[in-house]
Amino acid sequence: MKKKVTINYDEELNPSIKEARMRRNKDVNFTSFILEPQYLNIGLNKKYLLKTYGCQGNLADSENIAGILELMGFSPCNEEIDADLIIFNTCAIRENAEERVFGEIGRIEKFRKQNPNLLIGLCGCMAQEEHTIEKIKKTYPYINIVFGTHNIYSLPELVYSSLIEQKNKIDVLSIEGDIYENMPVKRESKYKAWVNIMYGCDEFCTYCIVPYTRGKERSRRPEAIIEEVKELAKAGYKEVTLLGQNVNAYGKDFKDLNYTFGNLLMDLSKIDIPRIRYTTSHPRDLDDLTIDAMALGKNIMPHLHLPVQSGSNEILKKMNRKYTREEYLDKIKKLKEKIPGISITTDIIVAFPTETEEDFNETLSLVKEVEFEGAYTFIYSPRIGTPAATYPNPLTEDEKKERLLKLNDLINSYFLKGRKRFEGKIVEVLVDGESKNNKDMLTGYTEHNMLVNFASNKVKEGDIIKCKITKAYSWHMLGEVVE
Ligand code: SAH
Ligand code: SF4
Ligand code: F3S
Repeated sequence: MKKKVTINYDEELNPSIKEARMRRNKDVNFTSFILEPQYLNIGLNKKYLLKTYGCQGNLADSENIAGILELMGFSPCNEEIDADLIIFNTCAIRENAEERVFGEIGRIEKFRKQNPNLLIGLCGCMAQEEHTIEKIKKTYPYINIVFGTHNIYSLPELVYSSLIEQKNKIDVLSIEGDIYENMPVKRESKYKAWVNIMYGCDEFCTYCIVPYTRGKERSRRPEAIIEEVKELAKAGYKEVTLLGQNVNAYGKDFKDLNYTFGNLLMDLSKIDIPRIRYTTSHPRDLDDLTIDAMALGKNIMPHLHLPVQSGSNEILKKMNRKYTREEYLDKIKKLKEKIPGISITTDIIVAFPTETEEDFNETLSLVKEVEFEGAYTFIYSPRIGTPAATYPNPLTEDEKKERLLKLNDLINSYFLKGRKRFEGKIVEVLVDGESKNNKDMLTGYTEHNMLVNFASNKVKEGDIIKCKITKAYSWHMLGEVVE
């Protein structure tokens, strides 16, 4: 039998949820990323594999991680067997997200045994959790380096100490630090880009782990964002998606500037880039200026992801969402009036602790009223350290699943209705490339963020083309390219 590879960490800085919960009145500093010369070239002739889970925030972070690694000389690979360094950029949002990562880490052990020089790293939101770190030490003691969401910039030092000095470290900061501008970035796409506009979240929805794993809300300066979008436009990018956990809180932390998300959208809409999207919006903070900017800005796409979570006022209150069903519906009405044809998508949690049949029916009735054209629906998952994890939840697993199925059945009918409205119409599609399911078809997204499959040998990735929609389904549409 091969010996189990077990790592004892040479240095440990472990996360603390208690520390992470606190919000300090400290000014945000902006720092530039610099790669120290001793870290250059240590990845030469070595390959890395990055496995990313979770939201767009993590996808964007992974592009920075890849940028840093390539600056250090590493080159990318697709197969675990070829890798000298495997990094898991993880998500902690629900228990099943965590289980997936642990499953993958368990599976990776065999590569560690085959290649004793393989380095394994873990970062992202799970690294910010105390129980994850405990579990790593106990059950997966072959991970070489652990770092958190607040210190991606530490990666070169951690790789260096593990690879060159054979010192393995856990290095997780519980409290957010400076905003790093000019991080190296290796963008996945040549025509669609993520642009972080802010970090962290101060909403503290009672079910959610994000305010603990991502720290307090910190906005990037408008000039830096505008400059980045201008550069992307110049480089031929067709679409940018502005990122933040609660983009509508953008700018609220500026002490010297009265500048909000609406102002930013207005300014960005003047840049010559075809498509601007953003995610995610918090319904309470979505204001008139933002709606006006969406209505006026020709390049602000007519799609809004506005997570409602529940249709019951009682549950919204227990979730600490700080808006009522009526206020949410008012905003939807305003959006539909000011931006005719806007597509609205959402997130919904079922079986939140104490959710009664009546509460759940309120959610169903809200779905009928809004007619969402897309949604992510979840069964509530308790997160250690969040208030809701201590609330009583008497529902059985079967009852929870039943609610999810019932909700999905209803909501899917509106996905179809939302796409049917485009049958026979001509829409603009940003071409993504080959369809995953059918190599003879191309695929892309409309302005309303709906997937279209079509056949053509004349168009290429990154083109914005006109398509006539021939058939609509719940999850996608078929189209024909119009000359
Ligand atoms: N900041 C965004 C996204 C947060 S995470 C927002 O506020 O909308 C994405 C979604 O995951 C949430 O909208 C919520 O529906 C879901 N979610 C978050 N925590 C959850 C939990 N503990 N159990 C189940 N779903 C959860
Ligand atoms: Fe989580 Fe709420 Fe913040 Fe979204 S707004 S990240 S759901 S705490
Ligand atoms: Fe997951 Fe963290 Fe994003 S918990 S959803 S990766 S902010």
